[in-house]
Amino acid sequence: MKDYQISILNESAVTGIEEIDRQHRNLLNLCNDVNNALEKNLSSISTRSIVRELLSYSIYHFNTEELLMQEYACTEEEKAEIGEHIAQHRQFARRIVSLQEKLLKREYIDQEELLVFLTGWINDHVLNTDMALARLIHQKQEQ
Ligand SMILES: [Fe+2]
Repeated sequence: MKDYQISILNESAVTGIEEIDRQHRNLLNLCNDVNNALEKNLSSISTRSIVRELLSYSIYHFNTEELLMQEYACTEEEKAEIGEHIAQHRQFARRIVSLQEKLLKREYIDQEELLVFLTGWINDHVLNTDMALARLIHQKQEQ
């Protein structure tokens, strides 16, 4: 498989919220680290430790966003969007946990499928869901 990087954080993916943008870059780097670890067939212990890092960092990042949501979402509609947003975060975390389990049991990992998931999820989530949250925050801050 090609050794390519997951890269999406161009202009259109910048939320304008410094902390979130910084965390997105770190998250992206960690996704690339996981991909590279699998690609280079690093030892099971090293790969598991990189995946553990991705999981803990993603939970930390989701928590940052979820605290902002609680602070800024007021209307029923905004709260419903938050529910969907949080569900997407949980889906990502579950997928990484399942990767951890596979690594632990030394099961086959379909790397192409994992890469498609990571790239697809980050692209879709950052460009749509996180940008919607950023718009809400910017809008409330201007009021
Ligand atoms: Fe998010």
